[in-house]
Amino acid sequence: MRKLADRLERITSFHVMVLMEQAQQLEQQGRDIIHLEVGEPDFATPQNVVAAGVDAMQAGKTRYTTALGLPALRQAIADFYQSRFGVEVPASRILITPGASGALGLLNTLLFNPGDGVLLSDPGYPCNDNFLHQVGALPQRIAVGAESAYQLSAELVRQHWQPHTRGAWVASPSNPTGTLIPMAEMAAMKAEVDARGGALLVDEIYHNLVYEQPPATALALADEQDSLFVINSFSKYFNMTGWRLGWLVAPQQHVAALEKLAQNYYLAASTVAQHAALAAFSAQSIALYEERRIILGQRRDFLLERLPGLGISIPCTPQGAFYLYCDVSAITDDSFALCQQLLHRCGVAVTPGIDFGVHQAQRYIRIAYSASLERLQEAVDRIARFIGR
Ligand SMILES: Cc1ncc(COP(=O)(O)O)c(C=O)c1O
Repeated sequence: MRKLADRLERITSFHVMVLMEQAQQLEQQGRDIIHLEVGEPDFATPQNVVAAGVDAMQAGKTRYTTALGLPALRQAIADFYQSRFGVEVPASRILITPGASGALGLLNTLLFNPGDGVLLSDPGYPCNDNFLHQVGALPQRIAVGAESAYQLSAELVRQHWQPHTRGAWVASPSNPTGTLIPMAEMAAMKAEVDARGGALLVDEIYHNLVYEQPPATALALADEQDSLFVINSFSKYFNMTGWRLGWLVAPQQHVAALEKLAQNYYLAASTVAQHAALAAFSAQSIALYEERRIILGQRRDFLLERLPGLGISIPCTPQGAFYLYCDVSAITDDSFALCQQLLHRCGVAVTPGIDFGVHQAQRYIRIAYSASLERLQEAVDRIARFIGR
């Protein structure tokens, strides 16, 4: 067989895919599986957003946009930052990308050379490592626990910065933990990164999905330094995972270089998706998204109340996203095996900690509350029966 590029050996795949395949087989055999493993909301794209996409197609808006994206959509995002967060972000700093994933690819290519180190939390979103490997950069995963809300902090940046380190990637709210980085901590972290001439890359893909406090954006910290990059997406809050649309906010002086990369990598994000996304900012859509956010919050509260009684503890209350990062060490010392058992014996699919890093991975599972309250109730009942509580 042909020898593939060496980097393939460093690219990891998701362990949960094995479980998803097994779940599919069980479903084919007629078993009822409750899916709490998927990282996407169970809500469909709002009808008015779908209609805007269909209208665009019927009107023949099916050719490339410019690499930076539709000017009207870039402006709509700028207006959203102004109206919702009170933060001024000129549309000229916003690039439309194929999902936040497209933005991840662009930024790592823009900023990092082979051999450069980048700080990340362990646990964290695993694809970041693989995007870094693609450009030959070195993920420096820092073990974090409940004491820092599973997030990097200014202190950790100070402690772990090495001569070859060039930046830090953070996500707030985080996948898999749903925890936030408080804005004061984000500012302190940015100061540490700035002092070392690095870049702070903030993934805000879940940032409108918060339950206790108004959402905040790291873009409020943008200053004359050209160090802060923020990515976001229409996937999660806007319920458009399959449309593959996201965005990136960069310092103005780097937009031209990013445009050059985008022109080469993908030419432009989906035109139809961009026209549909314009409707995602209408008052009607936002009202629906907010209703859905409240529903997600109710599901979170239900699980936070019920799971500890089953020996599944949540050491740090997640304030955002739709994930609970659960400590199952009272039940098992092998969370992957537990995931298998929960799937086969209870028909409940969840994600093992090993998919998000190595630090205490055997101790944790991620539960996504991307199923109705009734299904969550059923999942909890099944787990309770399984572990005899
Ligand atoms: C933290 C984080 N960043 C980025 C992504 C990529 O999302 P998308 O490409 O759908 O915008 C995901 C997807 O789950 C994620 O959890």
